[in-house]
Amino acid sequence: MVSSQLRLDIFSQPGPASPTVAAAVEALASQSGIEARGAIFTRAEVVDFILDLAGYTADRPLHRLRFLEPSFGGGEFLLAAVRRLLAAWRASDGQAVVDQLGNAVRAVELHRDTFAATRDALIQLLRREGIAARAAVTLADRWLVQDDFLLVPLEGAFDVIAGNPPYVRQELIPAPLLAEYRSRYPTLYDRADLYVPFIERSLSLLAEKGNLGFICADRWMKNRYGGPLRELVASRFHLKVYVDMVDTPAFHSHAIAYPAITVLGREATGTTRHDHPPPLATAHLTRTPARPCRPSTPPRAECACRPPAPPPRPSPARPRRSPSEFLPPYGPELDPVELVWAYLKTTALANDAPADVAEVHRHAARSLHRLRRRYDLLRCFLTGPALSLFSPR
Ligand SMILES: C[S@@+](CC[C@H](N)C(=O)[O-])C[C@H]1O[C@@H](n2cnc3c(N)ncnc32)[C@H](O)[C@@H]1O
Repeated sequence: MVSSQLRLDIFSQPGPASPTVAAAVEALASQSGIEARGAIFTRAEVVDFILDLAGYTADRPLHRLRFLEPSFGGGEFLLAAVRRLLAAWRASDGQAVVDQLGNAVRAVELHRDTFAATRDALIQLLRREGIAARAAVTLADRWLVQDDFLLVPLEGAFDVIAGNPPYVRQELIPAPLLAEYRSRYPTLYDRADLYVPFIERSLSLLAEKGNLGFICADRWMKNRYGGPLRELVASRFHLKVYVDMVDTPAFHSHAIAYPAITVLGREATGTTRHDHPPPLATAHLTRTPARPCRPSTPPRAECACRPPAPPPRPSPARPRRSPSEFLPPYGPELDPVELVWAYLKTTALANDAPADVAEVHRHAARSLHRLRRRYDLLRCFLTGPALSLFSPR
């Protein structure tokens, strides 16, 4: 089991292990282009939606909770969270700002110039909100960390973690740094993108009953490379919300493939809310022309092998609605491969009595071979999770 190898107490891990790793981090911090840093910035409406879903709302005593933004970029999540924090603090007694709020936020950013610009923006925001100049600088310096989130030690646990982690393919990560990440994060498996160990580390920092709300590619839920992360989530966490953002322009610049909002909680069980399209006021989100839309799914085959499939997507002519449905923890229904195995286990191999492991292997291979001719089932394994039989244009 991969999950048993996953380490959740990484506070004891040291910082950058070797001069080569430190040099690679420094190179990324000082000179890398947008692609190497995976910098794509999130629209304000989407940020507010995620903070709401993750429970970072001003009607809670946010000054007593801890908030983390692992890769704050231009501060889209950070500044919105700070506004909510100040509102909650004022609604309590609004006293001793540094003492009361100094521990309430941590936010990390690798890129030095981005860090400096957002630090300035944060200080200006605090000043506009009536915080004295010295206290504003003190808070910014307590809250903000310029470093690599995957390597920097961070103390304590966090009640809410939210953000938009970097999208960086492994080929773009310097070799010594990639080796260091791999040695620390078992979920950086196969072709996994950098956002995958970001989720792993964030989960390791989550307080009991805490929530992690990210917008990122949803491929970890479906692809081979997401296997270890899915095991980790299934063993100790709970997928509370899954919002498919494929047809919604969530970012300021070019988009990533298959974006989704996920909220993961440090809780063993519960239901999952699944939305498509998102219940957002999307009318005023400017559409992003660069991103291809997925074609509509082919007619849905009736399927007896799984619970009712999600409702079909509305056509552009119809008003946007937000159907919700409840799925079991971590939502294996979203993965066609899981559906294939579920079918084999509950039907083709259900009453099998193999003599040894080699026979299990032979029987499974034979059943898979037969399944190749069951177009009705194959179609329903794909259309169930609202995937198309056609490639995106
Ligand atoms: C996708 S952007 C998100 C920015 C912001 N959170 C938002 O939602 O608009 C990712 C940010 O992560 C930063 N980044 C990349 N690698 C990082 C790392 N290893 N540790 C911390 N930040 C990193 C990039 O510089 C970039 O600003």
